[in-house]
Amino acid sequence: MSPRFVLLAVAAAASLATMGTLRAQAAEPIQPIVPAQQVNLGMVELGKKLYFDPRLSKSGFISCNSCHNLSMGGTDNIKTSIGDKWQQGPINAPTVLNSSLNLAQFWDGRAADLKAQAGGPIANPGEMAFTHTLAIGVLESIPAYKREFKQVFAKDKIDIDQVTLAIAEFEKTLVTPNARFDQWLLGRKDALTADELAGYNLFKTSGCVACHNGPAVGGNSFQKMGVVAPYKASSPAEGRIAVTGKDADRFNFKVPTLRNVELTYPYFHDGAANTLPEAVDVMGKLQLGKTFTKDENGKIVAFLKTLTGDQPSFTLPVLPPSSDATPRPTPFK
Ligand code: HEC
Ligand code: HEC
Repeated sequence: MSPRFVLLAVAAAASLATMGTLRAQAAEPIQPIVPAQQVNLGMVELGKKLYFDPRLSKSGFISCNSCHNLSMGGTDNIKTSIGDKWQQGPINAPTVLNSSLNLAQFWDGRAADLKAQAGGPIANPGEMAFTHTLAIGVLESIPAYKREFKQVFAKDKIDIDQVTLAIAEFEKTLVTPNARFDQWLLGRKDALTADELAGYNLFKTSGCVACHNGPAVGGNSFQKMGVVAPYKASSPAEGRIAVTGKDADRFNFKVPTLRNVELTYPYFHDGAANTLPEAVDVMGKLQLGKTFTKDENGKIVAFLKTLTGDQPSFTLPVLPPSSDATPRPTPFK
């Protein structure tokens, strides 16, 4: 064989191997998370500050990170969130991690995308309880913010569109690649234990993947909660019907992502399930009419824990100080 031919043969074999891996991957109902690409870095830095800034709330105490804590899987780990004046909200806070992969935002999908979502909590009386006008007033009064907004958006005045764009751009970076399960998908066959792999096979053969699939293992469809038997919720939320008005959408919720699910307890839109074994048991019974043995349940839970990826990691932003002209918060009025 000529050296040139050997090289070609090696290259062909390598590309066949790659194609093999790709084909195997394509055959799986779940795909790996890819790191964020093509983000505007200036906008991300600004959005990060806004995400952590409690001055966007009436009390001066609540930021996006209060309920979507990036040290706790992008959630608050409580049943339903606590907002302005200690008000307990009606629904569990979903994680912001990988939320850029959702087909729409909120449990009922009422916001089309992250930008449309980001304006909501600031003005929601049960969450940050501010108004967009007051929030802009605060930002305008902080010289370093004024400079940074101008640098990023090249406009003289700050507006709510810029605020929500920047927050959404930051949220795009909150993806969690490199989970052990993704390493397995990408060909590292020893990345999963035998039990975890058995759990994944149960997840597939039992039918969980009908709703929990794609890179986010969910987030890409609305489905009924309680397909086989009704779910008794402890929250008044009715799901997708609130958006479409169609009776068929009653109790349809966005299928939550199962990425990082080990970190995002408690579970379900009403936060009623405290543990993963409990959530898996409910899903088996109500969605599929299946009662898993303790051993099967344990294996599925072991698989779900392999979906924890690299958590966002960055320097905590230092927020620019208020000026003498910055309106002060009114915590208890
Ligand atoms: C007081 C707690 C609280 C605060 C503060 C808060 N959120 Fe939320 N967030 C929630 C709750 C609860 C939901 C679910 C509401 C629903 O679906 O009806 C939610 C939903 C979301 C979602 C949708 C995720 C999904 O999978 O559907 C995103 C994204 C989000 N919030 C981002 C933000 C951002 C950005 C901020 C700051 C501007 C913020 N949140 C402030 C509690 C909060
Ligand atoms: C028919 C679609 C469907 C099937 C099948 C299904 N799920 Fe779900 N899953 C959902 C929906 C919808 C929710 C949210 C329900 C709610 O909060 O009211 C959910 C929620 C969950 C949650 C809680 C996530 C969170 O953050 O709150 C877990 C865990 C879960 N499913 C695991 C499973 C497992 C394991 C299986 C298979 C045994 C399964 N699911 C089968 C649709 C489905």
